[in-house]
Amino acid sequence: MSVKSLAIVILAAGKGTRMKSPLPKVLHPLAGRPMIGWLLDTAASLSPEKIVVVVGPNMPELEAAVAPHQTVVQEERNGTGGALRCALPALKGFTGDVLVLLGDTPLLSARTLEGLLATREGAGISVLGVRLDDPFGYGRLVMDADQSVREIVEEKDASEAQRDIQIVNAGAFCIDGACIDRWTGQIGKANAQGEYYITDLPAIAAREGAVTRAYVTPHAEEVRGCNSRSDLAALEKALQRRLRREMLDSGVSMLDPDTVYLWHDTHIEPGCVIEPNVFFGPGVRVETDSTIKAFCHIEGAHIAGGASIGPFARIRPGTEIGAGARLGNFVEVKKSTIGAGSKINHLAYVGDCTMGQNVNFSCGAITVNYDGFNKHQTVIGDGAMVGSNVNLVAPVTLGEGSFIAAGSTVIDDVPSDALAIERGSARKIEGWAARYRGIKQVGKKKD
Ligand code: UD1
Ligand code: CA
Repeated sequence: MSVKSLAIVILAAGKGTRMKSPLPKVLHPLAGRPMIGWLLDTAASLSPEKIVVVVGPNMPELEAAVAPHQTVVQEERNGTGGALRCALPALKGFTGDVLVLLGDTPLLSARTLEGLLATREGAGISVLGVRLDDPFGYGRLVMDADQSVREIVEEKDASEAQRDIQIVNAGAFCIDGACIDRWTGQIGKANAQGEYYITDLPAIAAREGAVTRAYVTPHAEEVRGCNSRSDLAALEKALQRRLRREMLDSGVSMLDPDTVYLWHDTHIEPGCVIEPNVFFGPGVRVETDSTIKAFCHIEGAHIAGGASIGPFARIRPGTEIGAGARLGNFVEVKKSTIGAGSKINHLAYVGDCTMGQNVNFSCGAITVNYDGFNKHQTVIGDGAMVGSNVNLVAPVTLGEGSFIAAGSTVIDDVPSDALAIERGSARKIEGWAARYRGIKQVGKKKD
């Protein structure tokens, strides 16, 4: 690996027209995080002296996303070569390795970039290449017999024979900092798009007699660029695969990993089991030995150890689930604290609630937390038993060990260890059902 000093330039000024979105392309999210964030992390892990990001005019959200790294503005979007030119004043006097990355190629790994840097040893410029079965849309690496790179030709400028070349420009270059200014100054725009292409640099360097090399990575999944929504979806898939592999390696079990979706900040401790078809949104932390059963949707929640969630549970932001608690099927919990060992096993809604430990919240019970204008709190003491189909009309407090009879609508506080029951005895009409069946059966014969 190179021991020379390193500066990194990331080109991110493009509008991303093909994404058909007002959002700058590199701010489109992958696992819920702007794609440029992933690349910046990898870039920073190489410990460069500086990172410079080239942005377009009027992209304040991008500048904010990139902070505290330096940004330079490419006033006129005239190609990747033009973008690199804009960054050069920020590298004045720098003579080490300049690593140039494309902001829309976010999944490159540090391992791959280290391979590229090592290939620059003794060469003026090295290019990251990859062999693709379908190279359409990428610049092709035209190599000489000695494996030096003679030139890179873009799809639109390539001859038919060149289009058959399967080794393509993956979008990263390592360039001798002492030559970068001179070489970049020679980039012209006599090409199909009338743009300054960074991909002209190998041919320019070769003309001066510099050695030009390619580092061809076997990891094709890292080098996909993002030009369209389809590319974004493919990148998401590749990133999800990577995140799941890391989680499996850390000691989390997944019965069918391909069906589990993770957010960039999902934290699941070893010993947990994730069943198929589970979605983790932002801000979820699950402590050890918990089980998330199939078809759960979980966001903004801390789940303590040994809990069992689902199948078919929905946990919404602001939720704390205590150790060993159990949430069953068709249970929704929002902005609530559920104490250790409490059970909400079936068909329930719990919102804006502080529930103590070892509470039993039965089938069909709900907190009525909204009066049409404001949200109100429900407090349930330890060991309370809330029967089936209970409505707890908030604000309301149930004392410890209280017992709420099935079907009751509770509108005021219940003392500890008390029974709250609100129930009328059902009217019985002798023989009614038999008469009804008789009428219906006669009617049926007539049809
Ligand atoms: C580019 C390469 C191509 C390579 C592919 C890899 C060129 C000319 N082509 O093509 O050889 O195979 O990436 O994914 O470099 N950008 C600017 N300013 C500009 C234009 C682009 O900063 O004026 C930035 C964009 O924000 C983007 C990156 O450069 O992040 C690449 O630009 P894009 O237009 O996507 O290039 P490709 O056509 O994909
Ligand atoms: Ca691209």
